Amino acid sequence: MKCPRLFTQLAILLVILSSPVANAQLTDAQIDQRVTKLLQQMTVEEKTGQMMQYFQFSPDTTDAEARAAKGDAGSFLFITDPKTINRVQHAAVDKSRLHIPLIFGFDVIHGWRTIFPVPLAMAASWNPKLIEQAQTAAASEARASGINWTFAPMVDIARDARWGRIVEGAGEDPYLGSAIARAQVRGFQGDHIGAPNHLLATVKHFAAYGAADGGRDYDATYVPDTLLWNVYFPPYKAAVDAGAGSVMSAYQDLNDVPATGNRWLLHDVLRSTWNFKGFIVSDASAVYSLTIHGFARDPNDAAIKAFNAGVNMEMAFPNMNVPANSIFGNKEAFNMPAQQTYTKELPALVKAGRISTADLDAMVRPVLNAKMNLGLFENPYIDESKSEAAATDPAHRQLARSTAQQTFVLLRNEGKLLPLSKSLKSIAVIGQLGDSQKDIMGSWVFVAKEEETISVLQGIKNKLPGAQITYVRGAQVRRPFPSPVEMPQPPVPEQTEADLQQQMTDAVDAAKRSDVSILVLGELQNESGEAASRSSLDLPGAQQKMLEAVVAVGKPVVLVLLNGRPLNISWAASHVPAILEAWYPGSEGGNAIADTLFGDSTPAGKLPITWPRSAGQSPLYYAHNLTQAPETAPDFKSRYWDDSSLPLFPFGFGLSYTNFAFSNLKLSAPTMKADGKIDVSIDVQNTGDRAGDEIVQLYIHQQAGSASRPVRQLKGFERITLAAGEKKTVTFPLTRAELQYWSPQSKQWVVEPEKFDVWVGEDSTAKTHAEFAITK
Ligand code: BGC
Repeated sequence: MKCPRLFTQLAILLVILSSPVANAQLTDAQIDQRVTKLLQQMTVEEKTGQMMQYFQFSPDTTDAEARAAKGDAGSFLFITDPKTINRVQHAAVDKSRLHIPLIFGFDVIHGWRTIFPVPLAMAASWNPKLIEQAQTAAASEARASGINWTFAPMVDIARDARWGRIVEGAGEDPYLGSAIARAQVRGFQGDHIGAPNHLLATVKHFAAYGAADGGRDYDATYVPDTLLWNVYFPPYKAAVDAGAGSVMSAYQDLNDVPATGNRWLLHDVLRSTWNFKGFIVSDASAVYSLTIHGFARDPNDAAIKAFNAGVNMEMAFPNMNVPANSIFGNKEAFNMPAQQTYTKELPALVKAGRISTADLDAMVRPVLNAKMNLGLFENPYIDESKSEAAATDPAHRQLARSTAQQTFVLLRNEGKLLPLSKSLKSIAVIGQLGDSQKDIMGSWVFVAKEEETISVLQGIKNKLPGAQITYVRGAQVRRPFPSPVEMPQPPVPEQTEADLQQQMTDAVDAAKRSDVSILVLGELQNESGEAASRSSLDLPGAQQKMLEAVVAVGKPVVLVLLNGRPLNISWAASHVPAILEAWYPGSEGGNAIADTLFGDSTPAGKLPITWPRSAGQSPLYYAHNLTQAPETAPDFKSRYWDDSSLPLFPFGFGLSYTNFAFSNLKLSAPTMKADGKIDVSIDVQNTGDRAGDEIVQLYIHQQAGSASRPVRQLKGFERITLAAGEKKTVTFPLTRAELQYWSPQSKQWVVEPEKFDVWVGEDSTAKTHAEFAITK
């Protein structure tokens, strides 16, 4: 019995070691050759095994190891303990017939142990270089713990603040979103797949998941081709062009065809048009769910539909005895039947000739390619003794703090209330979120430790150790039913009316006794994220009431927002003198907020999303088309009779502690050919008395063409630092890449010989204007 096994082991080893160079230097052709040799030795079951990824929540990995030893799994996700990862990997490498290593996946979305600001916040920095650094750090921490593959970046354009997952992306704009998608892929993967201390990236959720009907998570999306090509697709394309090694197919129906069974999307667009060479993983149990959509008649039909559409790996829940209060939010223990279809259904389909061996091999190949590219065949294990030190690298904490500082958006600062003086004697910090080490991190933080996180209250205490700081918890913020996507939480009893009254009284008293009140309001981390959509954008619970009561005291009030989406702060925007949008800033959030409130850092972030006045305005975005009664008409009031149709804050908006002036807008030429180039330059001066960053933004508008074009489109941006009084010239090139669009008439990318407006300035309402034309 042993001899054939030994022989196979040697054969594989020879295949692997036959190349003279290490994996990182192998050419694509050499990798292909190795994979071909491997495929020749694999059974149908071993091939479909490689196409299977299982969730593993339980620390008891007996079943997972058995699967790995049998060659029945290509990957696991959610194993986060380095020792367990090595143990399960040993089962695959030592015990399976062909010794093919597993690839371990996890949602490293904005950090591993060190938590960086949530993606929407990072987008507000408009600083791709910084985002790349943050994701590089996150990748190195995760990789040292045995993770090889992250399910990020999430690049779904989101224009509806009700959608909970708006927090996981870069906001509403395809140009900004594309720049950030590229930066994240570079950060996660390094300069090639297999770069040391890096991960394989997954661009997700392909496609248009962010356009969910009514902002309801998982709901169907209806997106016309013109919006797909011009708005929703560009960030995915940018990530693919940047080399993202995998793509995740989305959960939802796209124009009535579920994304995970959508061959047009996964094959025609992704593989044929964009030349994507990596592998496609389904979202969690999304193949099985094709039966739930009413698209597949049974799991067999689901498997073949997903396979034919081009899903290389199925992410699935195995048969699980789910304990009470699990990640699924269940009260009672239950047995969940396995939801995998590939290993169950595909082998018979191959044997019956409904799937050819060539097609099967073509689907497995990219998975094996990725494992080889990552160097897993040579180095399947990690050095467990190094995991902890890598995950707690102090340089990462520092980076988390400076990243957070760059993400804050100053929404209001009447009478220059901010920055606050460090010689304040007494401060009231009010709000449940102000003392939370958990919520300040945002969602997708399963490995981070709450006790290592700096709350806002702690950050303020660190900054002003001598001041008298009174903390009042105030109005409760509570999700009425548990989130199905977080680890089990003990139930939180609802605040009684008496307690609320007492807290309100305490908040008002503290405000009266203090020089300034800092209210920390917003949403819990589980009120924003997956399965966390809302029908209202109001501050949850009685927070608004508490805010009004504290403001009524008549002393200075600063509102700090912790949240993952725009909230209805219309009242605050005209009654609270200073408002700082801090999003969910991560492990060092409290320190970074205190740095900003007390002037050790100057806020410069800008909104990556249009900020509506209320949920009723959703979806709301700046790059809408012109109408016959444009907002610029002299008598324009609103498109609604009951409220303004204009946003509370426009896209790209954000204040600073200093001021900037824009002048001398110049175009290098008045016209250009479609393949030419025009340089647009502008002088930006810091006219205040302290240094600060400005995010200079360029917008265009095509005045006529084969289709109506958005009133404005972002086509350039740069974050610059200016000392007090300093002036810099910023130059943006405009080329075909910026001026083309996908025409719904000709169904192709066009640059049309038309006139264009160009504006450069501080946000999407920039006034400094010029014009140019494209000539034939
Ligand atoms: C989410 C994905 C995530 C996956 C694995 C799904 O519910 O939609 O974004 O990567 O779970 O955790």
